[in-house]
Amino acid sequence: MPAIALDRLRREFGSLAAVEGLSLDIGEGEFFGLLGPNGAGKTTTLLMLTTLLRPTSGTALVGGFDIVTQPLHVRRSIGIVFQDPSSDDTLTGYENLKLHGMLYHMEPGLRERRISEVLELVDLTDRKDGIVKHYSGGMRRRLELARGLMHRPRVLFLDEPTLGLDPQSREHIWDYVERLVEAEGITVVLTTHYMEEADRLCDRIAIVDHGRIVALDTPAELKTVLGGDVITVRAAAPGLDAVRALGIAERIERQDGAVAITVRDARTALQPVLHAIGPVESVEVRPATLEDVFMHYTGREMRDVSAEGGWAQRSMRLRSGTR
Ligand SMILES: Nc1ncnc2c1ncn2[C@@H]1O[C@H](COP(=O)(O)OP(=O)(O)OP(=O)(O)O)[C@@H](O)[C@H]1O
Ligand SMILES: [Mg+2]
Repeated sequence: MPAIALDRLRREFGSLAAVEGLSLDIGEGEFFGLLGPNGAGKTTTLLMLTTLLRPTSGTALVGGFDIVTQPLHVRRSIGIVFQDPSSDDTLTGYENLKLHGMLYHMEPGLRERRISEVLELVDLTDRKDGIVKHYSGGMRRRLELARGLMHRPRVLFLDEPTLGLDPQSREHIWDYVERLVEAEGITVVLTTHYMEEADRLCDRIAIVDHGRIVALDTPAELKTVLGGDVITVRAAAPGLDAVRALGIAERIERQDGAVAITVRDARTALQPVLHAIGPVESVEVRPATLEDVFMHYTGREMRDVSAEGGWAQRSMRLRSGTR
């Protein structure tokens, strides 16, 4: 039995279909990523799977329970770490966890044991009596994670758990999650904008755009669709017909005044491609990334966001239209 099974899961907001009928199975113990730009429908999907938002139509099973007809069973089997922190910042870290255990009716002995375990797991044991208001951003996220894990969920939902954190804190969070997946064999569903995170962590990735899955596979398979390397050239008059005639270009795409040419192996392809293209202003060669995959399927960019600032810039770029 899959850990999660979506069956034509759909959610509309007025005339907008935020999630357009997703069907997909996620296996037990799988590390599954939902990757997509702002407004793709990632959070909406997670809200439905965690029973916090009703689908307009369709349904899903989480841990074998129906999200619409058995929401309480679903809630007991899942842990949630959402985009907006929801810890009470006037309480200490410990108090937040205790409150959570009480909400889940955990018996006091077990509750205290689990609090110690999860605090240890996220490295907050020696800061547990500090007021959350005085925690750093990374510490808050780790506390959220600890709380999401308190009742030993079989499925953990993480909505952008590392958004806005510095690379080191992001690394830490993933270390904890990976350790956990190994130790407890839980299923993880993750949303992120950070493509390299998704690439590195996920067993499979669904690339979503406008409420639809545009691609679904392992990161490696997703990238092989595009071949191996991308040669990006800037040239006043690139000889693209000549490049096509070579028969070694998997894809040729114009982006932003440059041309991206995907080839199996740049080591052998670079020379002939450059020869065919004619005079160039600049050349860049790199391995294909999930960014290229996204571009391939949607014709748009979904840039990796670098810590702070990149967030706003990126949303502006996506809003101000696409090529
Ligand atoms: N409560 C709501 N009322 C109306 N529209 C909504 C509501 N929640 C989400 N939407 C719309 O649904 C679409 C999907 O939003 P959602 O938050 O699921 O996207 P997302 O992929 O999580 O984006 P982000 O990367 O910015 O978190 C967006 O167009 C959003 O404006
Ligand atoms: Mg979201």
